[in-house]
Amino acid sequence: MENYSHFIFARALHIAAIVFWIGGVAFVTTVLIPALKNIPEANDRLELFEKLEGKFGFQAKITTLITGLSGYYLLNYLDAWDRLLHLHFWWMHLMIFVWLVFTLVLFVLEPLFLHQWFRKQALKDSDSAFAWLHRMHVVLLSLSILAVLGAVAGSHGFSFQLM
Ligand code: HEM
Repeated sequence: MENYSHFIFARALHIAAIVFWIGGVAFVTTVLIPALKNIPEANDRLELFEKLEGKFGFQAKITTLITGLSGYYLLNYLDAWDRLLHLHFWWMHLMIFVWLVFTLVLFVLEPLFLHQWFRKQALKDSDSAFAWLHRMHVVLLSLSILAVLGAVAGSHGFSFQLM
């Protein structure tokens, strides 16, 4: 196969970016938000959240870009576009879906209105705003982990075909 070492490099880069990105999402979901919920003063809670999540937001943007570019390269190299037509490659659809959701949130919704909207909600009713934020993160983290499990098993030969 032509350019096999490029393919191996793109695959390694894909995973390194995902470690920083989904690892960060796991930290925010399982450590940061639960710890913030224990801060009694609503303003302190919001201020700390904005400081920390703001820093992670930058990292998430870079790693989302690297994941998307390397994923596109892998798909092209393998000439595997037709997988998207088959349901038993659901993990391919899920990878792309997770990527699309994060890209939309980070690059479009956050700067447009999500950041201001959450700020307003958190100042009005901090407990329910942070409970909502936690639920959203749990849903996205669960989908991401399912994508990782499905992609590792699927790309190493496990077939999810039931019939
Ligand atoms: C535009 C988005 C993405 C595209 C186009 C894409 C594409 C690909 C392709 C083509 C492969 C190789 C499959 C194979 O060797 O059969 C792959 C592997 C993989 N991808 Fe993605 N991907 C994307 C996003 C993601 C995301 C968001 C995650 C994690 C949540 C992810 C996790 C993985 C994992 C864990 C592997 C398996 C690597 C291995 O075990 O060797 N990908 N991806």
